[in-house]
Amino acid sequence: MGQLKHHVFFCCNKREGNRDCCENTGGERLRAYAKERIATLGPAASEQIRINRAGCLDRCDTGPVLVVYPDNVWYTYVDESDLDEIIDEHLVHQRVVARLLLP
Ligand code: FES
Repeated sequence: MGQLKHHVFFCCNKREGNRDCCENTGGERLRAYAKERIATLGPAASEQIRINRAGCLDRCDTGPVLVVYPDNVWYTYVDESDLDEIIDEHLVHQRVVARLLLP
């Protein structure tokens, strides 16, 4: 069993009404995409990178958001191509994606 290198938490929180929340901007759908994308990288990557759901991360107005541990790097993203960049650059090559960092 490989050593876990990155643990990624996607906020998938849903708020009632019109309040800002990550689920209204694709949190769960895009978390599932990221999980599938990691699986395509092979068993070594799947053992080293874990994708999980999180409740509200208190950055609701900048969502959807995710956080990469143990690096404690917070990102916002819009679509699959943003996640591809986070996966390829940060999770695989250990290079922070500056343009997607949360302010
Ligand atoms: S709903 Fe995602 S940070 Fe609050």
